[in-house]
Amino acid sequence: MLVLDGKLASAAVKENLKKKTAELREKGLPAPHLAAILVGNNGASETYVASKVKNCEETGFESTLIRLPEDCTETVLLDTIQSLNQDPNIDGILVQLPLPKHISEEKVIETIDPRKDVDGFHPSNIGRLVQGLPTFIPATPYGILLMLEHFNIPTKGKHAVVIGRSNIVGRPMSILLSSNIPQGNCTVTLCHSHTPNLKEICQQADILVAALGKPEFVTPDMVKPGAVIIDVGITRVEDATAKKGFRIKGDVNYTAVSEVASAITPVPGGVGLMTIAGLLKNTLQAYLNNRG
Ligand code: GUN
Repeated sequence: MLVLDGKLASAAVKENLKKKTAELREKGLPAPHLAAILVGNNGASETYVASKVKNCEETGFESTLIRLPEDCTETVLLDTIQSLNQDPNIDGILVQLPLPKHISEEKVIETIDPRKDVDGFHPSNIGRLVQGLPTFIPATPYGILLMLEHFNIPTKGKHAVVIGRSNIVGRPMSILLSSNIPQGNCTVTLCHSHTPNLKEICQQADILVAALGKPEFVTPDMVKPGAVIIDVGITRVEDATAKKGFRIKGDVNYTAVSEVASAITPVPGGVGLMTIAGLLKNTLQAYLNNRG
């Protein structure tokens, strides 16, 4: 059984980005610059954004973190995005989701200049992804492709089952795995909360991507022997014995499913780290597209 270690795979991607950034700096050019906007103080979002900023530093990128209060108006957020759109020193913009309920995520995403949309969430970038045109691949699906590439997991002709149809992970993942790209060419089944016979469908998966946000949902009876398991879940589950009062749980019962699978991503230490690698790659790409 192969552990698809996100630390190893993301370190390889980051090392490469670090080298490319150092080469730019040696030529007297600026480093890629990511701007992250965090609205309010959602604990998980704080952690993710802090990690994104830290990884920028480690790679030699510039980063700017803009914090807005929980009760900030939609207009203030949209104006902040507009000013980053117009700032020639900013290559990539990300607004950490979820946003407070009074702010429209749709409007926010549509306000980000697609050329700086390093999350790949803008409808025009999703449209390009569907058509197989150059675009920013949303960071988590991109990270999963990089993970499959790093560990040389074959995908061509395989049956991939994706559980979860979110705009951030499940739906773009299903499109990518079915696309004619090196880590694609799968036959894909996209399952969701209204899928009957979910267990039977999962049992047919050569590659199973769990992205539904339900801790330990995938059990060994749902897994074909020898399947490759990609666990996207990162749910905080209360645990009084843990230092922080919670533990991070994936969507897969790791211990039990490890007995059946041929390869599996751990949580934490799997897909989460690859998401950041995908984001950093997109930020360098934005830099090269816009001012390279
Ligand atoms: N919230 C959960 N995942 C993501 C992501 O990839 N990008 C942003 N901006 N917010 C998220």
